[in-house]
This record gives sequence, structure tokens and C-alpha cells, in this order.
Amino acid sequence: MRQVLLRNGNRFACESNTTILDSAIANKIALEHSCKNGQCGVCETKVLKGDTKALRPEIALDSERLEQGYVLTCCRTAISDLEIDAEDLPELAGIKTKTYPARIDSIEQLTQSIIKVILRTPPNDKIHFLAGQYISVIGPNGLRRSYSIANAPRADGKIELHIKKVDGGAFSAYWFDQAKANDLLRFEGPLGTFFVRKPLPKKLILLATGTGLAPIKALLEHISTLPANDLPEIHMYWGSRFAEDIYMDLAKPSSSNLKMHVLLSRPGEDWNGRTGHVQDAVLTDHKHFGECAVYACGSIKMIESAKAALVKSGLPSNKFHSDAFVSSN
Ligand code: FES
Repeated sequence: MRQVLLRNGNRFACESNTTILDSAIANKIALEHSCKNGQCGVCETKVLKGDTKALRPEIALDSERLEQGYVLTCCRTAISDLEIDAEDLPELAGIKTKTYPARIDSIEQLTQSIIKVILRTPPNDKIHFLAGQYISVIGPNGLRRSYSIANAPRADGKIELHIKKVDGGAFSAYWFDQAKANDLLRFEGPLGTFFVRKPLPKKLILLATGTGLAPIKALLEHISTLPANDLPEIHMYWGSRFAEDIYMDLAKPSSSNLKMHVLLSRPGEDWNGRTGHVQDAVLTDHKHFGECAVYACGSIKMIESAKAALVKSGLPSNKFHSDAFVSSN
């Protein structure tokens, strides 16, 4: 059994043939992660001392980062005692992941290809989560799909999901053709480490593409409950391809320190708003990133491109937090 030492001095044992991430979870240590299968890159960390072995392909890690000593903790195990440049997340200490029964409370068609689903758990079994986390819904025939929770925790315990239709997708066939109010489902959650870190920075930049809006909306709802004096300057960028993909009206800023930007990458002639990609718009609007934190959710392409560009422009890499859409396991 190998020991893994974290930057803040905490340590845990890593079993052979068990990933560093799973070993941490087994020892009730929460490390940054999302997909747990090598695709999103959220669990990337640098090995400062010791040796590791890959148990599965590190799809999200490029060869340059690999050569620099970075690994994905969800893919590698320790083959010697290790020191890694990661810290555990004490905010998740009280959060338990488990399987809940849930009924569909309502389904609302937002666009031709996007629906809003509200789920309710039994009144005595409400889910306790941090705004920004996701769940894995277990549907008919045991199919599983991950969806971000689109709201901050609410008193009635209900959770909101934004679901995009995937042509030919088995779960989409359920959501768009069969699902109805009061259907009984199960979900596992909460999952992931996408939530707002404290202390809040002076400037918060939120990036979303498509239904990546869901956890960003949850973060905004959470932030709006904080005392006004604690609120940072917030700049939110939401990008989609076409005007019909703008499925929710976010034009009502909850406070004067929130600036909302909606962009289209393939605008029609009648679009008068901003165009292009969210990561480019951020670089146009802001020049200094030293006192920022960035939270991004959407396509892997956007996340990778935004992280590379912002870190190059001065954002500390540990201030870029993301949750990428990856194919389901
Ligand atoms: S790549 Fe490790 S959690 Fe996604």
C-alpha cells in the first residue's frame, strides 16, 4: 500500500490497482474530479515526487502535459509513495453520494430540442448538495446519463435538469417521447467537484455553452443568496450556435454587479447581439486575470481552449474550475 501526500499535508493510502482518485474517495478525501473516466481533465494534477502507472487511457491529457509530470488521478495508481500538487476539498466532507428514488414532477419543453425536467425525491429523503454538482440519472433498462443540477438547493428539495435531445440517443428517446409527470426514476448523486470556492475572488467569470448553462445558473442562484458585501464583480458569458438555442431568459440580473453576455457562434441575419466564442469574448473584455476565478461548463473544446488561453493570460491554473460534457459511461 502506497501513501499519497497532498499539498496541504493531508495523506491517504492508495491500494494497488486502484486509482489515486478512487483511493482518495475510499478514504473520504475529496479531490477535484468529474467524469472519473479520463475524458474531462478536471482531475489533472502534477506529480511532485514518486511514480505512477496508468490503469486506463488518459484521454484528456496531452503528451506535453504528460512529459511535464501531469497525470489524471482518475486513471493512475501509485507504484511508490507519492507527493501530488493537489489539495482535498473540505466543503465536500458533509456531502454523501447515494442512490435516491425520484419522481418526475414536471416536464417543460423549452425549445424543440431542450426540455426542463423537475425531479422530486421523497419528502424525508431530500438530496443535500452544493450548487454546481451533478447527478447520474438511472432510467429505463438501467441506462445512466449525467446531468448537472440547474438550481441551488431549495427548501422543497426539488431539482431542475436541462436536457438536450441527442439524435438517436437511447435516453433521449425516453425523455422526449415517453417521459411523463410522476414517472419513477432513480439517480445517484450528488457528484463532482464543481462548486464555488471560498473566499470569493474580486472578479468571477462564468462561462457556459449550450446546456452547460445549468450548473452556472445554479452557481448564480447560490451566489445571489450571499450577503451583498461579499459579492464579487460577476461576468457571465453564455454561448450557443443558433438563436433558437438560447433557451432561457437570463436577462434579469439579480444584482447590479452581474454583467450578462449572450453570444452566438452562427448568428442569423436578425441577431443583433454579440457573436463568436465565449473564451474569445472574455479575452476581449478583460486584460488582467490575477485576481479572478473562472467557472466553465460546456463542451470539452470550449473548456480546453478557455483554460489554455486564460492561464496564458495570467489566470492561476488552480483558479480555473470546469465541468465538461463527456460521453456517458
Ligand atoms: S478525467 Fe479524471 S475526472 Fe474526468
